[in-house]
Amino acid sequence: MTRKLLVTSALPYANGPIHIGHLVEYLQTDIWVRFQKAMGNECRYFCADDTHGTPIMIRAKAEGVTPEELINRVHAEHYRDFIDFGIEFDNYYSTHSEENRQFSEMIYTCASKAGSIVKKEIQQAYDEREKMWLPDRYIQGTCPRCKAADQYGDSCDSCGAHYQTTELIDPVSTVSGNRPILKESTHYFFQLSQYEDALKELFKGGYVQASVQNKLDEWFSAGLKDWDISRDGPYFGFKIPGEEDKYFYVWLDAPIGYMASIKNYCDKNGLDFENLWNGDEYEIYHFIGKDIMYFHALFWPAVLMSADLRLPTKLFVHGFLTVNGQKMSKSRGTFIKASTYLNHLDPQYLRYYYASKLTSGVGDIDLSVEDFINRVNSDLVGKLANLASRSGPMLSKKLDGMLGTLDDKGRALIDELITAKPEIVDHYENLNYAAAIRKIAALADVCNKYVEEQQPWVTIKTDSEGTRTTLTAILNAVRMLTIYLKPVLPQYADKIEQFLAVDPLTFADTDTVFENHKIDNFVRLIERIEKEKVEAMVEESKQQTTPQQIEQAQPKLDEPLEAECEFGDFMKVDLRIAKIATASAVEGADKLLQLELDLGGVTKNVFAGISKAYKPEDLVGRLVLCVANLKPRKMRFGVSEGMVCAAGPGGEEIFLLSPDSGAKPGQRVH
Ligand code: 2FM
Ligand code: ZN
Repeated sequence: MTRKLLVTSALPYANGPIHIGHLVEYLQTDIWVRFQKAMGNECRYFCADDTHGTPIMIRAKAEGVTPEELINRVHAEHYRDFIDFGIEFDNYYSTHSEENRQFSEMIYTCASKAGSIVKKEIQQAYDEREKMWLPDRYIQGTCPRCKAADQYGDSCDSCGAHYQTTELIDPVSTVSGNRPILKESTHYFFQLSQYEDALKELFKGGYVQASVQNKLDEWFSAGLKDWDISRDGPYFGFKIPGEEDKYFYVWLDAPIGYMASIKNYCDKNGLDFENLWNGDEYEIYHFIGKDIMYFHALFWPAVLMSADLRLPTKLFVHGFLTVNGQKMSKSRGTFIKASTYLNHLDPQYLRYYYASKLTSGVGDIDLSVEDFINRVNSDLVGKLANLASRSGPMLSKKLDGMLGTLDDKGRALIDELITAKPEIVDHYENLNYAAAIRKIAALADVCNKYVEEQQPWVTIKTDSEGTRTTLTAILNAVRMLTIYLKPVLPQYADKIEQFLAVDPLTFADTDTVFENHKIDNFVRLIERIEKEKVEAMVEESKQQTTPQQIEQAQPKLDEPLEAECEFGDFMKVDLRIAKIATASAVEGADKLLQLELDLGGVTKNVFAGISKAYKPEDLVGRLVLCVANLKPRKMRFGVSEGMVCAAGPGGEEIFLLSPDSGAKPGQRVH
């Protein structure tokens, strides 16, 4: 029976580019959707940009554009990146749309009528200079527990403590550099606890994978708290009906954006939205990352319940991406934008590699650069593409491109491939792509063994018809493996279909073999990955500016200047060119590096808080600016005898200052 499915991926924020971390989810979803379509199911894939909220407002300001201009530009960039990675949405929309406004207002009105919305007075941080309310991420200060500087308003990166913004020592607004004040305001809250029983019922029905069920139990035990769904202006979002300067919090209208994207698609294609979204014909699946589970497992179904709307069938939750076992990092060059990747590498490599790592679990997946290169080169290029390139050109050049018929041995090979179909289908359906890829690669091994045994490059010299029979088996195997791989590698499959001169392949085509058929000229399928190209991609990523840096560029320029100082005061600072002779990590201080600075004969030992931004080995030999006459300071790890000059707010965003080439260690800076 044909299934009808509506599938979504989380809506990416419109304040930054798509990067390889995001792509885990979009590729996971795209592969599933393509699989469903190839199985003959009616499956549609929806997404949109998530366009509202404070970060978008601030970024637009930093760029000197309106939020609308920013989100339009980013929408085009996101969409282009997705297309370039072969991610095929049926509709890619925006949460800043009329459909979304109407749905948001309708749902809010229903929730109010259902008695699920209450008003409360709350105290919130406010930036008097910028005249705006500050979310936690726009407040920094010293951690009340470990005293680490430059920590966010809600938690400390250094010791992991969670606290109230009011507990932060010396808090500053990162928007203006001023100290925020606490101000009272009325907010609207959604009473989540009213839906506790209904949510528990929903989970019993298998709304989430078993592996995340524990997390839900934890949340229930902790108690469901009221959810603040309003924000005061200035805010980029939808106004709350009946209010002058209050807006829906971005997370209220974001998931409603799924409905808006589907509605927009229905209107463009003459379909009945009510039937798709609210009827019982369609299954609805949301793919999300584990960081936004609370929103999708609790708030979203509860909000839908409050408006008496149908609930999604299931959430598919995945883990994060790590690169070489660590969080993506700009300084290591592993925070790789989709567009940067595409400047250097074929998107099919990443599709194949992610598929080979993805399971139905919520564990993180690691992109190990060595493994990435090896796996693509040995399996995809060496085993799979090679099978086609060893047989196609020979048939075209030596045997008029005409397939013959299968003999018993060839038939046995193809039967083995057909037998694997239920297992592969099952793996795709259950999101165990890694197992599907393992099985496909193992089948390719069997096929390559067949080629080695048959030796068509030898038999072609003496037995052309026998060779035609062998090549017929190999090309049937190529066709069968392509059917299995097609959800992962649509472009590769296109090329194979083109050279085999067959219609677009689906899973139903495993029921047939092709014999006495003329193939077309061979087209190169895929190239090996060159390590140098991967290195160039990493290098380019190191040079790039992150969205956070762009946001922070504006406030830093705005930062109030220090009080004037006399020229003589300035001259007291002995600023020198120094060469970093050695650099090493400091045990017990995860932000510090110990630097030995050569000031042209004089050596100084300096502890610098730059370890989040630089690897020690990258610093050795670099020229920097050093405050050479700073009074030595005794620290827990030793004496610091100076200071290196750097710009930036801290953490990963620190930029060491260096002189132009030609400057010598020890020279004074004037
Ligand atoms: O976490 C995020 O990137 C959000 N923009 C995801 C929103 S998903 C949905 F709810 F819209
Ligand atoms: Zn701390």
